[in-house]
Amino acid sequence: MQARDRIVLALDVNTSQEAVALVKDLIGCIGVFKVGMQLFSSTGPDIVKRINDMGGRVFVDLKFHDIPNTVAAAGRVLTRLNCYMFNVHAAGGKEMMGRVAAEVADEASRLSTEPPLVLAVTVLTSISRLELENEIFISGITLEDLAVKWALMAKEAGLSGVVCSPQEITAIREACGQDFKIVTPGIRPAWAEKNDQKRITTPRQALDMGADFIVIGRPITEAENPREAAEKIIGELEA
Ligand code: C5P
Repeated sequence: MQARDRIVLALDVNTSQEAVALVKDLIGCIGVFKVGMQLFSSTGPDIVKRINDMGGRVFVDLKFHDIPNTVAAAGRVLTRLNCYMFNVHAAGGKEMMGRVAAEVADEASRLSTEPPLVLAVTVLTSISRLELENEIFISGITLEDLAVKWALMAKEAGLSGVVCSPQEITAIREACGQDFKIVTPGIRPAWAEKNDQKRITTPRQALDMGADFIVIGRPITEAENPREAAEKIIGELEA
């Protein structure tokens, strides 16, 4: 896979016009366009089709967390929409993950298409150890150990990979092996603003640690010249 194919651009905008303008500008230098709950809530699934029609692959980042039957049915819909990857919460349980993985594979084979990569969200990076203990009532385990346990469970359930913080890449890669996809946000080139991201990693460091895909938003979308910013990151990845 080329360096540019590993970049996932977070399209954190409100309207399809803004999203389409960014895709037009960046197609060819971005591997995957991420549609999260902000954009999806505004445009609905039509944005996935529009980006596909422009030649872009789409990560539908809606972090499903529901009963197995409901998540599996949503997975079938996203498979028919031809999305490239989507995610579910590992905390939804092994049965839910197993069902969605199996039904996505079944739907793709029925349509003779490639199944989307189904990723598990482990521990949200906004959650601290204290919150984990006092608000989610999971104690006696570090965030990293919990992320690894959930990643292993996702793998056993048949999921393609995880979304995790750069801090967890090394441990998850070691536990889950080379074929398990690792997607990581919290990426900042040395020259970019940190914004509200706290524990950050450069694009190069994340790939060196074993990430398959890096999620980057504002360093590109809010740059004066987004295309130039993307090309600069690709240059650093290829160096
Ligand atoms: O603009 P920025 O590069 O910070 O965007 C990062 C993207 O990754 C956003 O869409 C954000 O929601 C997502 N993300 C994150 N941290 C997580 C999970 C997702 O920044 N732990």
